Amino acid sequence: MCFSCVPSYERFVAPHVVHVGCSLGTFSKMRMQVVPQASGVVAEIGFGSGLNLPYYDMSRIERLIAIDPDEKMLSIARRKLARKQLSAQRLRTELMSVGGECIPLDRASVDTAVVTYAFCTIPEPDRALREIRRVLRPGGRLLFCEHGRSGRPFCRRMQDRLNGVWGHIAGGCNLNRSPQQMIEEAGFAVCNLRRDRFPLHLWPLGDHFAGHAVPK
Ligand SMILES: C[S@@+](CC[C@H](N)C(=O)[O-])C[C@H]1O[C@@H](n2cnc3c(N)ncnc32)[C@H](O)[C@@H]1O
Repeated sequence: MCFSCVPSYERFVAPHVVHVGCSLGTFSKMRMQVVPQASGVVAEIGFGSGLNLPYYDMSRIERLIAIDPDEKMLSIARRKLARKQLSAQRLRTELMSVGGECIPLDRASVDTAVVTYAFCTIPEPDRALREIRRVLRPGGRLLFCEHGRSGRPFCRRMQDRLNGVWGHIAGGCNLNRSPQQMIEEAGFAVCNLRRDRFPLHLWPLGDHFAGHAVPK
C-alpha cells in the first residue's frame, strides 16, 4: 500500500502514529537514562510531541528550547505543557517551529543539545549536526538516543528493503542510518556509547545507540 497516495495520512495520521510508537516503554527506559543529564540552556532538536518532558530535571535547567518543524507534533506537546503537572516545564520551555538544519540561536549559546529518535527523520542530519556544533558552548554536550543500522547482516538487508514504506508510515523515519557514524563525521567525539539490539517485536529498528558526544 502506498501511504503517500492518501493525502491526509502524512499530515493528520502519521504524527499520531509516531507519537504512539515513540511512547512505548522500550523508548521510555532509554529516555530515562539520557534526558535527566541535560542542564543549563538546553536545546532539544526534533522535540516532537514532547515525550522527553517528564524526564528533564527542571531544577538543573535554565531554559529549554524545543525545536521541531512539524506543527502537528508541537501541538501535541503544547497540550502536554498546558497540563498542570508540567507547569515547571511550561515556565521554561520555548517551542520553535523550525528545522534543526537552521537553528535560530546564537553561536555558543547552548549548554546541552538533546536529540532522541530524530536523526532518523531529519532530512539533512549532517547540516543539523553542524548547527548543533555551532550553538554548543565550549564544554557543551550533545545527549542522544537513536535507533539505526543493525549490526546483523540479515536485519540490515531487511532495513534497506523496508526503508521506503516505513518512511511513509512513520513520518519520514529512516531505518538504515548510522547515528554514531553521522555524529562522528560531523566532528564530535562520541563518549559512553551504549549499543544494544532492540527487542524482537521492534526488530526493524535495528540497533539502539545512546550516549553523549562532545565537539572535537
Ligand atoms: C520519531 S520523531 C521523535 C520525536 C521525539 N524526539 C521523541 O523522542 O519522541 C522524529 C521527529 O523529528 C522531527 N523532524 C523532522 N524533520 C526535522 C528537522 N528538519 N529538524 C528537526 N526535527 C525534525 C519530526 O517532526 C518528529 O517530531
